[in-house]
Formats: sequence, structure tokens, C-alpha cells
Amino acid sequence: MQGTLSFGVVIVAAGRGERAAAPGSGPKQYRLLGGVAVIARTLQAFRAWDANCPVVIVRHADDKALLDAALNGVATDTNAVAGGATRQDSVRLGLAALAESENPPTHVLIHDAARPFVSAVLLDALARSVRDDPRTGVIPALPVYETVKAADADGMIERTVPRKGLYRAQTPQVFPLETILEVHKRAANEHDFEFTDDASLFEWASLPVRIVLGESANAKLTFPEDFTEAERMLKADESPALPDVRVGHGYDTHQLVSGDHIILCGVEIPHDRKLSGHSDADVGFHALTDALLATIGAGDIGSHFPPSDPQWKGASSDIFLDHAANLVRDAGGRITHCDVTLLCEAPKIGPHREAMRASIAKVVGIDIERVSVKATTNERIGFIGRQEGIVALATATAVFATRGNASNE
Ligand code: CTP
Ligand code: MG
Repeated sequence: MQGTLSFGVVIVAAGRGERAAAPGSGPKQYRLLGGVAVIARTLQAFRAWDANCPVVIVRHADDKALLDAALNGVATDTNAVAGGATRQDSVRLGLAALAESENPPTHVLIHDAARPFVSAVLLDALARSVRDDPRTGVIPALPVYETVKAADADGMIERTVPRKGLYRAQTPQVFPLETILEVHKRAANEHDFEFTDDASLFEWASLPVRIVLGESANAKLTFPEDFTEAERMLKADESPALPDVRVGHGYDTHQLVSGDHIILCGVEIPHDRKLSGHSDADVGFHALTDALLATIGAGDIGSHFPPSDPQWKGASSDIFLDHAANLVRDAGGRITHCDVTLLCEAPKIGPHREAMRASIAKVVGIDIERVSVKATTNERIGFIGRQEGIVALATATAVFATRGNASNE
């Protein structure tokens, strides 16, 4: 296979879920699990792994409204096509739609909508195996660890099947798109009973398929009790929902030279020196700007406002701080706390502390209760002690929406 590999996804969701049927709850792929439709969870699992790969969802001809409602706000970029009478038919129709799309991928992951707990770790393992050997199909499977019996229709055991080398197949199953589509078309014409997974078709066509270790959490929701178990698992996983709290740190120093005032945390203080720097040299705002940028890994103040750029000469530093706070908000963060420590022998910070808190609160756009300003001298030691410069340290805290809560991640 030439060129780089790319992946697309076909999620089959055209079944009726008869074995899982519960009164009044409709096909299982649209049922809610932890408040989120099964199919939405399944799609999210792929989107979290690769936000951009093309996805085809194969739905039942009667389910357009159900699918639209389930994916409302989650996916606008998926392609939905009607499925067929068997899973095999549905897969073939999904593959054909993917192959006819504008930029068909080289490989397809074929997945059951009814397996919402597929993990990015498993998807990575499958992709790695495909990259090693792009012509071979790859499926996740778990070894059979119970003793396997073959029995007749009356439940009488005929023999024990050696379990060594036996596996239970899962999805997603990954294949070169053109090859699997061609085999599916051939099977639809030449083979007269249903294949229950896609690896079986590759095997039927004497093409190679490799196993990578599957995940027990990637079980298929098949019976009503599987929903009970999945709800229990979600509660155990999610109830102590770990909030996505990020803490950023910042540091800045500027030299003191002769002058008549300095600006610290946006407050102008009369003084017999000033801070030297390209902008207004407000070390407090600069350190806090870096701390905010750190919560989103967005580099430092110099990368956003290069000191070599003449437009920032003498600039008021609230521009920098405001910019950083907006970037954090644009990234989905809620700024919950800002803390600045100033290290200087003079001027005295105490009398200006409240004004500084207020100015930070205003520029960052948070309540003053969430702002702290502290100061200390440096015991006359070192460059701070000799009043050659002032240092500011800052910490910013922001909370981001977690995966489970965000509808469009
Ligand atoms: N599937 C499909 N088209 C069909 C039959 C099944 O797309 N004609 C899909 C199902 O929606 C499911 C996956 O294939 O996501 C695995 O099938 P299964 O677990 O058997 O689901 P159902 O066929 O819906 O359930 P049941 O067999 O209990 O009716
Ligand atoms: Mg079925």
C-alpha cells in the first residue's frame, strides 16, 4: 500500500436491539446511558481519538428522527445512511458510502454502535498494528478463559472444545477500505448465510487478519442486564468526576532605574525610581499574564507580544493581561483564582493592595474575592535587597469542562 494511511469509521446502528428490548425504550443504540444516548457515546469515543476522520453512521430507515435527536449538538459532520436487513448488509452499505465520499480513507474501522466504551488506547493499538502491516485486517479480541462446551439442542454436552487459541471477537475491526468493500460485495452475491463480523469475510476470502488484545469494557450491549451493568460502571467511573483544574505559574523581573513612579498590578505608585522595560514594565501583570497563558500551554508573554515589536513600546500591560484572560476563556476555561506575590524593598505595597486586587479583578474579569496580592521584602539581600529590581511571582487557576460534561468535545 502506498502513501500515508488514513482512517475512516463506519458505525453500524441499523439493528432493532431485540435481545435488549425493554418496554417503551426503543432500539438500544438510542437508549440513554448516564444521560447520554449510546450512539452519542460511541461517536464521541471516535471523535475524542480523532476529531477529523470521516464517520458514516448506518441507521435503520425508520430511525432518522431518533438518530438526529440522539446526536443533537454532538455531531453535525457525520454522514448517515440507511442500513439493511442484516448487520452484514448494513456494513456493506456503510462502506460503500465511505468509499464514495469526497476523500475516502485508506482504512476503515467498522464498529458496532452498541459498543460505546471503546477506548482511545484500544484505537491507538489497532492503528499501530495497521501501520505495521497495512494489508492485514486487525481486530480486537479477548482470549476465552472459560471451558468451552459443545452441546446438542437438548443441552447435552457432546464434547469439550479446547479453549487454547480461542478468542472472542470485538469491534472496531480495521481493514483496507477498498479490499473489505470488494469482499463484502462479493459475499453479498456468492455467500448465502450471514457473516456476523467483518473479519469472517476476510477469512472467507483467504485474506489475513490479526488479533490485538481487546478490552473487557468494550463489551457489546446485548441484553437488558448489560445496560444495568453499564450504568453501574459509569457511576463508579464518573461519580467522583475529577474536575479539569489547571494551575499556571508565572515569573517576571524588571530593573529599577531612576524615575518618579512605578506601575505595579495596574496601580501607579509615586516612587523615586521606575521600572525599566519596553512596555510600562508592570512586573505584576506580566507574571500573571504568563500564569494565565500557562493554564492553556500557550507559551509566554514574549511569544504573544514580542519586545522587538515597536507597537508595544510603552504599552499599558493591561492589554497583555486582558489578551491572556480571553485566550483562556476561548479555550473553554473559567478563571477561578489569581495570586500575585511582589518581592521588593520599596515602595510599600500594603497601602495599594486593595487597589491592585481591584485592578486585576477588572482586567481578568473575575470577582475581587478571587484575587490575591501579597508582598514581601527580600531582607535586603541580593538584587532585590539592593533595590536594583523588583520580582513578581503569579499563580492562575482555571477550570475547564471535562470530557464527560462537554457536549461538543
Ligand atoms: N446492526 C445493523 N444492521 C442490522 C443489524 C444490526 O447495523 N440489520 C448493528 C446493530 O445496530 C449493532 C451491531 O450491528 O450496533 C451489532 O448487532 P447486535 O448487537 O446484534 O444488534 P441488534 O441486531 O440491534 O440486536 P438484536 O440482535 O438483539 O436484535
Ligand atoms: Mg443482531
